[in-house]
Amino acid sequence: MSSSNLKTFTLSNGDVFPSIGYGTYKVAGASIEDIVADAIRAGYRLIDGAALYGNEVEVGRGIAKSGVPREQLKVTSKVPPEAKHYDDVIAAANKTLEDLGLDYLDLYLVHWPANATVHPDQWNELNMDTWAAMIELYRQKKVRAIGVSNFKIHHLEPLMKTDVKPMVNQIEFHPGYTQPEIVDYCIEHDIVVEAWSPLGRTRVLQLPLLEEIAKETGKTTAQICIRYALQKHVLPLPKSSHYERMKANLDVFDFSLTPEQMEAIDSLPETGYSGLDPDTNPVG
Ligand code: A2P
Repeated sequence: MSSSNLKTFTLSNGDVFPSIGYGTYKVAGASIEDIVADAIRAGYRLIDGAALYGNEVEVGRGIAKSGVPREQLKVTSKVPPEAKHYDDVIAAANKTLEDLGLDYLDLYLVHWPANATVHPDQWNELNMDTWAAMIELYRQKKVRAIGVSNFKIHHLEPLMKTDVKPMVNQIEFHPGYTQPEIVDYCIEHDIVVEAWSPLGRTRVLQLPLLEEIAKETGKTTAQICIRYALQKHVLPLPKSSHYERMKANLDVFDFSLTPEQMEAIDSLPETGYSGLDPDTNPVG
């Protein structure tokens, strides 16, 4: 799945992704465009966005402003949750490409599964219809890889029987919330797991255990969280609007966590979701 130096992840279609990406959800500051360009300047080559974040025009401008050639970047977007039918998904992909000013995406994800709380009789049918459109976009090469986000195993299983299986599942993952059943299922089925909120939206950065490990390793608790994800074979997508933190969050390849440190983090009590449960999320 990932190479031994933890610097890349290889998707089941053979595409090679950098092992840390830059998350653009709620990127805040004077100019989103400049912040995204800063992230690329700081060294990020994987930019994770979504139509739902409402900032794709600015993210696209930031990508252009960076001056880094398109082929050196991996750009991800996600189907907005209101697009749950084939034609809507195709239209949403075209709108995202237009907003970003790009002619292809490197990865397109279904943002949230249709769920049984909102669609008790139809959730699977809607997910399958969405997925059929994803396969079509993949065949047209408008998107170079396809996957899902926030999918639990019961949402994923029907998709695993189709012609093109999900290559990525992006889920909430951080110390105190590691969803091991989903991660294990994905790794077993050659689906790369990406972590949104790998820093637990800062909620976990003051945990005494992480502070202790930070002291032992000479790194920050944020760097411990990012390294922890990598050693769990999960691709982290940290967010920051500050250049120094953007850079620091990439500086995790000069140390490793010992098996004891990994186990101690594994055993932290559950902090729970920072976001929403995919089975009950009203946008599902
Ligand atoms: P900021 O943008 O001010 O740097 P997550 O990626 O888990 O959702 O967490 C995002 C939050 O973590 C943001 O509030 C971001 O704030 C903060 N953050 C990102 N990197 C660091 C860091 N290295 N140290 C402390 N806080 C950080």
